[in-house]
Amino acid sequence: MFRLTDFTYEGKTVFLRADLNSPVKDGKITSDARFRAVLPTIRYLLENGAKLVIATHQSRPYKEDYITTEEHAEILSKLLGKEVEYVEDIFGRLARERISSLRSGEAIILENLRFSAEEVFYKPLEECERTFLIRKLAPLIDYVVNDAFAAAHRSQPSLVGFARIKPMIMGKLMEKEVDALTRAYEKGEKPRVYVLGGAKVEDSLRVAENVLRMEKADLILTGGLVGHVFTLAKGFNLGDANIEFMARKGLLELVDWAERILDEFYPMIRTPVDFAIDYRGERLEVDLLSDEKRLFDEYPILDIGSRTIEKYREILLGAGTIVANGPMGVFEREEFALGTVEVFRAIGESKAFSVVGGGHSIASIYKYNIKGISHISTGGGAMLSFFAGEKLPVLEAFKISHRTFIQK
Ligand code: 3PG
Repeated sequence: MFRLTDFTYEGKTVFLRADLNSPVKDGKITSDARFRAVLPTIRYLLENGAKLVIATHQSRPYKEDYITTEEHAEILSKLLGKEVEYVEDIFGRLARERISSLRSGEAIILENLRFSAEEVFYKPLEECERTFLIRKLAPLIDYVVNDAFAAAHRSQPSLVGFARIKPMIMGKLMEKEVDALTRAYEKGEKPRVYVLGGAKVEDSLRVAENVLRMEKADLILTGGLVGHVFTLAKGFNLGDANIEFMARKGLLELVDWAERILDEFYPMIRTPVDFAIDYRGERLEVDLLSDEKRLFDEYPILDIGSRTIEKYREILLGAGTIVANGPMGVFEREEFALGTVEVFRAIGESKAFSVVGGGHSIASIYKYNIKGISHISTGGGAMLSFFAGEKLPVLEAFKISHRTFIQK
């Protein structure tokens, strides 16, 4: 695969596909983690004289966090100490004219790529190649640098469509992510502990199944909604309120699958022994085996409890490799962030080689100033897809581009 140092960039127009898709509250971006992660690539390209066209998606149509990239431009400019101009267009005349007039060392950011319908579908590379986004921009571009690891599981025009048309080069973040994840997956020292939390239950089940079958994991600790599904699969009752919630989210259909995984690997999958519920606005911890568990009928479980945290902590401190994805609870509410934060903290304290990801939940690592994690991945779904043993379209596209242009 092509690396940044394989080419020179003086006077060249570079399309940098980043993933700056970030959490948004009341119309404002609340975490700059993904911006900071891509800065080394941006700096390298600008210092080496590139004319830089940055592009990202932000959420999807009709969602609350679907906003323009105007604030993305402001954040990048502030972090870089240099203007990154917001261009309110993707591949129309305004964008093309601005790209053509770029000077060496100048940077612009295009409009939210998902304002274009082409960027909302998943299509094979050959079809992505025929989109207007690719056809209109390709003539203006010399190289494509892809640093959007967090979107590496998506087959969309800006992510894979240039591969056979322009040399597609791995950015520094992409390289770092792939190296760290490969190390944990292929060469992880034992015991290898996976922590699976959050709401992406289906993806997490695929990871659990793959790493256990392929003998890449020795133990799996569960939390968040992943923990709920495995707890039900073990035959415990989580109460009417929680089961209704899970039914609404379509999660009950996954219980059978979780049961099948347990049939094969029961002792290797740990589930919470206590939970924290929202008891009239306050955190209340309830043991899964106590009489108080009747409260689960009325009150929502929003975090793992302290006994679970203690058990998980001990295991994590003795691990050789840790891979963690997703929060243990509703970390956005301070009183229910305890499980997520304490698990991340234990990972940081552990001597293990550790990789932690989970999209927006990694913001809590910075918020609570947690140190000592070997690699904080910007990927949520992409990281899960990697550990599920799937082929990531963007990584495949790098290989195709390399094969295409190494011969030229
Ligand atoms: C993410 O945050 O997981 C990536 O930016 C991908 O976003 P998507 O799930 O909307 O494609």
